[in-house]
Amino acid sequence: MTDLPAGLLQQSFLAGGEFHYELNSTSTRALEVGAGDIPLPYLIWAEQQAAGRGRGHNIWWAGPGALTFTILLSPQSLGIAPAQWPGLSLCVGTAICQFLQRMQIPDVRLKWPNDVYLSSRKVCGVLIESVACRPDRLAIGIGINVNNSLLNAPPEIQQRATSLVDVLSTTHSLVPFLTGLLQELDSVLTLFGRAPKEFPPLWRDLCWLTGRQVRMTDVRGSVTGTVLGIADDGALRVRLPEGESRFVSGTVEPLSA
Ligand code: BTN
Repeated sequence: MTDLPAGLLQQSFLAGGEFHYELNSTSTRALEVGAGDIPLPYLIWAEQQAAGRGRGHNIWWAGPGALTFTILLSPQSLGIAPAQWPGLSLCVGTAICQFLQRMQIPDVRLKWPNDVYLSSRKVCGVLIESVACRPDRLAIGIGINVNNSLLNAPPEIQQRATSLVDVLSTTHSLVPFLTGLLQELDSVLTLFGRAPKEFPPLWRDLCWLTGRQVRMTDVRGSVTGTVLGIADDGALRVRLPEGESRFVSGTVEPLSA
């Protein structure tokens, strides 16, 4: 473990953090250190993860050049009430989309509930977890395929995922990239605390799933339908044969490209 690169603390909303050349998972580490007394917001950044985790039992695999980090923070200190927490993954996804759009990267969209898509493939995943014994804290894990090409990945991964270098044919220096992304996260999360009503129109504009045929799976089982968009409270609206249904959690699999 070493200090964060110079400048990252000064130029962001972070109060502390640590850098690892290799770690099992920045989110697992965040859940451990987040139980203790640490300055918040706190960043855990790893150049490489040996056991990156996704939602549910998924693994997050990313080769060298990916950006993988977790931020520990107290949503209340940013003005975000517990009732707003279900909208946080969309909110974090919105910040990532806006940051990429500011870099003039085209065709960036939000895939409900916690992915960012680039050219209709997953480029980023978000994992938000609560910290045991510290109900006021959340660990926001973010993995972005930046300089890690997926061109040699198995075909089924290439069909679903991509990276910035594969789409743009250009690499990015990760320290300024992460600094800019942290600044965007700070301003978007603060706005979410102050003016949550500004978000539903942003989600609607960014929603990649709208109009697509999908298979939705949640605790009630699996159904297929057409996505109508994201509701004001962050739920996914899906038209089923029997009428409109709302999903607040679950997995969504597009049935068309
Ligand atoms: C998903 O797509 O299901 C979420 C993927 C989240 C991956 C990131 S990488 C940094 C952080 N550490 C982890 O182990 N997972 C998250």
